[in-house]
Amino acid sequence: MDNTNRSFKSWRLKQRPSGEIETTDLELVDDIIPEINDNEVLVRTIYFSLDPTNRIWMSDVDQYMEPVEIGDIMRAGGSLAVVEESKVEGVSIGEIVQGGMHGGWQEYFVMPASDIIKIPKDTGLPLTAFISVLGFTGPTAYFGFLDIGKPKEGETVVVSAAAGAVGSIVCQIAKIKGCKVVGIAGSDEKCKWLKDDLGVDHVINYKKENILESLKKSCPDGIDIYFDNVGGETLDAALTLMNKFGRIPVCGLISMYNDWSSTGPKMYRNILMKTLTVTGFLVSDYAEQFGECLESLGKWIAEGKIKYKVDVVDGIENAPTAVNKLFSGENNGKLIIQTSKEP
Ligand SMILES: NC(=O)c1ccc[n+]([C@@H]2O[C@H](COP(=O)([O-])OP(=O)(O)OC[C@H]3O[C@@H](n4cnc5c(N)ncnc54)[C@H](OP(=O)(O)O)[C@@H]3O)[C@@H](O)[C@H]2O)c1
Repeated sequence: MDNTNRSFKSWRLKQRPSGEIETTDLELVDDIIPEINDNEVLVRTIYFSLDPTNRIWMSDVDQYMEPVEIGDIMRAGGSLAVVEESKVEGVSIGEIVQGGMHGGWQEYFVMPASDIIKIPKDTGLPLTAFISVLGFTGPTAYFGFLDIGKPKEGETVVVSAAAGAVGSIVCQIAKIKGCKVVGIAGSDEKCKWLKDDLGVDHVINYKKENILESLKKSCPDGIDIYFDNVGGETLDAALTLMNKFGRIPVCGLISMYNDWSSTGPKMYRNILMKTLTVTGFLVSDYAEQFGECLESLGKWIAEGKIKYKVDVVDGIENAPTAVNKLFSGENNGKLIIQTSKEP
């Protein structure tokens, strides 16, 4: 196909944000859709993921992968796209694939045959499941909680950003494993969902309550696992109440992504006093075990033991404003941008 007259939009990083992401930190650019070579497909993005880590990638702090360079298309933490042209044997027009590291904040892109992962058909699940609970957020919860948290029945588990994409799945896996679960979230509505719909035992609205005082009340036997999504003051409160041999999977530090200047936790000493295991992890390090994880998550979803929410924002032009919902807490589930219709 001659793509000379076909253009697509993408967001390119214009400057590194200072504090919250501003729309002026990025630029919406039109480019010509590229031609494909043998063993390549051209795909049209349907959804791309917005993630707290977008803010990390925009900065030039030392991080777990290269920052996005100024002028480059903004990286996405996942995308789903439909094949529009194919020069790959066995891949047909209309099939839906994962964008992997090829799909950024953009409407079209080219993928090599070697990186194509097809989305299974006729699963009975909405397509958005494959960019949320069965994308990266479910596996993040699964490996972080089970492999690093090492839960035992009856233990007390505290989860921050508990109503979020990762946190809500952690809460439910913890209930499946027979733990007592305390969820910390930033609104009464989120707390109500955690308690009424997900079966979380105690909830704390950290925007209204003193986190440490509320944790003392809801964890009279101390905390065995603190699943950390936020860092900062919440981490300090949890550290204060950790039990001997407690575990802290460090999943994220969202309270710090807009400003790295804050100092470390005041209760650092409890790592020694309570012989804690504090372990950072990246879901990408578990890529080879995804099969086992997706099977378990799929089974729990089918059994009604795991529920998930997806917050879909329409239109690529809204990506830079929508991403800030993750930092204000306005997102209601896994935040994704829809750039074109599902086939
Ligand atoms: N290690 C990994 O491989 C990996 C993979 C994916 C995600 N993560 C991390 O997991 C965490 C959750 O990510 P997600 O994609 O599931 O997003 P999410 O929880 O759906 O959205 C982020 C939530 O964080 C909360 N939040 C924002 N600023 C906060 C602050 N200053 N203090 C306390 N809470 C705050 C907000 O909820 P409230 O309304 O409750 O404040 C917001 O809804 C992030 O830290 C992310 O970086 C790590």
